[in-house]
Amino acid sequence: MNEAAHPGTVAPNGLPMNEQPAWRRDFPIDWPRDHFVARRDFTRFLVLTSLPFALVQIALGAVNWLRRGRRKSAVKAIASLADLPIGGATTFYYPEKHDPCLLLRPDENTLVAFGQKCTHLGCAVTPDVDKNCLYCPCHKGYFAADSGRPMSGPPRRPLPRILLETRDGVVHAVGVEVNAT
Ligand code: FES
Repeated sequence: MNEAAHPGTVAPNGLPMNEQPAWRRDFPIDWPRDHFVARRDFTRFLVLTSLPFALVQIALGAVNWLRRGRRKSAVKAIASLADLPIGGATTFYYPEKHDPCLLLRPDENTLVAFGQKCTHLGCAVTPDVDKNCLYCPCHKGYFAADSGRPMSGPPRRPLPRILLETRDGVVHAVGVEVNAT
């Protein structure tokens, strides 16, 4: 191989190819092409690694959508008012046994409940009483404790709100309001 065959080749020391050591003349490197291949390989790597993530996200979204579509509003007793102190919280599962939720009692006459799975990537949120919010420790996501709407951090969607009714001192979950603000 010679310099004429590879006009883009410039050795690192800048000398013409006929002044290069024998080993470099025997194995010349086309640096522009080498860089181009590296970029192309990197782009291919990005695409190939991103594709499985995108497919998994789409599959998870479809499963959630199907599961949500199958849900019926069931009435379920979740706590006794006598066992829930003012400022306290308790967990329950609604509407299915794999749907963890949080019931909060910020004052004597107020009860609110939300799905406990963070709307970012599904970690469990916990009440932060001092800040009057629900906190997700995975990526520092914060939700308003009264509405479930995202306040800061990565989450963009509010927590699903659990609709409640109190009958004879017992709190019941009666439905799920998705995308409540
Ligand atoms: S999973 Fe909750 S902030 Fe990321």
